[in-house]
Amino acid sequence: MKTHRENGLHVAIIMDGNGRWATRQGLPRLAGHRAGLAAARRIVEHASDIGIACLTLYAFSADNWRRPAPEVASIFWLLRAFLRLETDRLRQRGARLQVIGRRDRLPQKVLTVIENSESATSAGRGLHLRVAIDYSSRDSITRAACASGHSLPLSADSLGALLSEMLTAESGDVDLLIRTGGEKRLSDFMLWESAYAELLFTDRMWPDFDESDLDAAVAEFHHRERRFGAVPESVLQNETCV
Ligand code: FPP
Repeated sequence: MKTHRENGLHVAIIMDGNGRWATRQGLPRLAGHRAGLAAARRIVEHASDIGIACLTLYAFSADNWRRPAPEVASIFWLLRAFLRLETDRLRQRGARLQVIGRRDRLPQKVLTVIENSESATSAGRGLHLRVAIDYSSRDSITRAACASGHSLPLSADSLGALLSEMLTAESGDVDLLIRTGGEKRLSDFMLWESAYAELLFTDRMWPDFDESDLDAAVAEFHHRERRFGAVPESVLQNETCV
């Protein structure tokens, strides 16, 4: 199990609530996505300031294709804007950008911006920013198993070790998974990588999620006791086993 990267935490965020944030203010959903983009930029900057090693943002799920075509087009327009706006800043800060998810269904314009951003920041050794686009965790696990090059079936242990290597070699397991917007579900995000993640659900809508919310989430993470299924040392010392 790849937990606790030596150089900092892996935080993953399901950025939910853009639409409701807009609707509550009598604005079109697109206004919520715009505000969501601004929130993402603030959080990326702050994550790098507070020494988060890896930040994975769920920007567009494989299921989001079910949304009305104009909304999908607006989200992709914003994703391109985000990548274009962030690339120089990320490079200056020594951050590396990586997009995860399927690429074969993305519009060419989006692919081009992704490739440019990834190559411009590839030397970064600071924050590893991962943006999940057309992402499904079940799909990524299935594809990793198929792409492993081994003839299946492997033993369960070998396949598990292989998948861990393929899915978490660079990012490490997720330490802290945050979902904004009040819902309490994982929505096919980081299912393998979050096996031992601490989960934090907040009612805050994503456009309102700010630096202090991220600080509070990380502080709560540090207060939680992570046992990974074991009994803490302190308990073992005080107890004689029968
Ligand atoms: C979730 O809110 C938002 C999305 C699925 C859209 C994509 C996210 C952004 C544009 C934020 C910017 C992020 C990056 C990295 C550019 P929702 O529409 O599901 O909200 P709802 O549940 O209230 O309808």
